[in-house]
Amino acid sequence: MKFRADEITSVIQREIEQFQSEVTRTEVGRVLEVGDGIARVHGLSGVMNGEMVAFENGVKGLALNLEESSVGVIILGDYTKIREGETVTATGELLSVPVGDAMIGRVVNPLGEPIDNQGPIPSTTTRLVESPAPGIADRQPVDEPMQTGIKAIDAMTPIGRGQRQLIIGDRKTGKTAIAVDAILSQKGTGVVCVYVAIAQKESTTANLVEIFRKYGAMDYTIVVAAGASDPAPLQYLAPYTGTAMAEHFMYGQGRATLCVYDDLSKQAVAYRELSLLLRRPPGREAYPGDIFYAHSRLLERSAKLANKYVIVPESTPSDAEITETSAVNGKVYLGVPGAEESKHELANHAGHKVVKTTTSGGSLTALPLIETLEGEVSAYIPTNVISITDGQIYLQPDLFFAGVRPAVDVGISVSRVGGKAQIPAMKKVAGGLRLDLAAFRELEAFAQLGTELDKATQQQLDRGYRMVELLKQPQFHPMDVTDQVMSIFAGTEGLLDAIPIKEVSRFEEQFLEFMKTKKSDVRDLLVKERKLSDGVVSGLKAALNEFKASYRGPAPAAPSTAKNTANNAVLAGTEV
Ligand SMILES: Nc1ncnc2c1ncn2[C@@H]1O[C@H](COP(=O)(O)OP(=O)(O)OP(=O)(O)O)[C@@H](O)[C@H]1O
Ligand SMILES: [Mg+2]
Repeated sequence: MKFRADEITSVIQREIEQFQSEVTRTEVGRVLEVGDGIARVHGLSGVMNGEMVAFENGVKGLALNLEESSVGVIILGDYTKIREGETVTATGELLSVPVGDAMIGRVVNPLGEPIDNQGPIPSTTTRLVESPAPGIADRQPVDEPMQTGIKAIDAMTPIGRGQRQLIIGDRKTGKTAIAVDAILSQKGTGVVCVYVAIAQKESTTANLVEIFRKYGAMDYTIVVAAGASDPAPLQYLAPYTGTAMAEHFMYGQGRATLCVYDDLSKQAVAYRELSLLLRRPPGREAYPGDIFYAHSRLLERSAKLANKYVIVPESTPSDAEITETSAVNGKVYLGVPGAEESKHELANHAGHKVVKTTTSGGSLTALPLIETLEGEVSAYIPTNVISITDGQIYLQPDLFFAGVRPAVDVGISVSRVGGKAQIPAMKKVAGGLRLDLAAFRELEAFAQLGTELDKATQQQLDRGYRMVELLKQPQFHPMDVTDQVMSIFAGTEGLLDAIPIKEVSRFEEQFLEFMKTKKSDVRDLLVKERKLSDGVVSGLKAALNEFKASYRGPAPAAPSTAKNTANNAVLAGTEV
């Protein structure tokens, strides 16, 4: 092979002509002072608000306060090894964390780094920790239920996918328990859950992760934990990180996600701490002026994204990946109005059908928790978060200690949008339940006076006691919505009226078992129709009567047999 000198020179010449040296400019500053998770840095004059900076030892920081002569940086890691005079480099990037399928089943810190001793996370995608919430046009009203598996909640303060429902109550009233049951209840539904533990003891979080593992919930859950001993900046950041991880599934894959922030009171305290250290002016209760914004921009990010529809050939298989480019006419129809429009347009496309794109219609449901002091819901942070969310579940210590668990105070708990997402059967029975309970609450105080009551009043009271009993539910026992409907139906139809209060839960359990094993046809019909059609109602009533006749009460202890028989006779006598 011969080399031609002119060819070589021409190649070299071309290379030289095309050579462009890239000038990189890094901004480097120096630490003026450091302490309590905060550093003041001089010399980073071009840094952005919210930009990541790196200290000499590799610890990351976040530029939060841009002042005339210095920048206030919150340190996301161990600040004890940072010294005054050290250099700080601006990275030119906003804070982002790893996201993706690889995160599922892992426990990470608010920077997305694993803290579960299970090795590195092989994730290649990242997402900004702070990102804007979707706009109105990109959203759709809540229309699918997010079952928590808890009767009192799914019936009376139902949650829809994309909703923000606050769980509020004093300490140790079962707030975490409700959120955990809601996560356990997502098993097999394809919902990705993110549990954000803020400023909790490491042992508490570890126990919780064990529970998730035990019930198989880690298969679809990410745990983001900033422990009580972690610096305040990490505790402040944790909920945004969790949200970014959920958003990846909502935007990228059109999936439903559930975020639990346990709890935002502690996050507010962490934010107050670092704001005071940054010398921001303190406002009410010493919280900084933008504490409302801190919570609202977090919770605004939960949404039910609008479905996108495209027209595709009839022959497209139903499990095919549909993207916006699949559209035969190049048009994408957005949301509820889009669905209508596409139907009209379909008339011009014979042999075609309208389908939803695979990546649209995702949702992020948020369950923020707030701890109150002595039931004081009107304090600053609770009122803020109440006004941001779409409803609240209020847990009452008195109920909790009286053994009514979950201790949901149905009187002041509300869900402003979730009702639209309830399945029709649940909506129907819940109406009756609400009436029974409202009547009961009115009479209960009256009855305590010990006055003689007429028969109708006594009956309403009896019904109320049994309904309260029916709504009690042990932890880690989320119930299927079908079972919930059947239980509440039994109660509102008056079947439980003759059952001793103590026996209600046993009766319920056996009845549901009976429906599962002996009357699966009725149960299946309810599952299929999702509403209380005539067929379902008559089937349920017949099944109830049959079960009632065979119900034998508690395991017969010898002396009480006679009483039991009498009891059964009473039961058999009350026709539904
Ligand atoms: N439905 C229930 N049935 C029985 N026990 C329950 C129920 N819900 C909660 N508990 C128990 O009550 C205790 C407090 O519950 P939990 O930790 O959920 O409350 P919390 O309000 O989150 O407390 P904290 O203020 O410490 O965060 C726990 O020991 C829990 O096991
Ligand atoms: Mg808790």
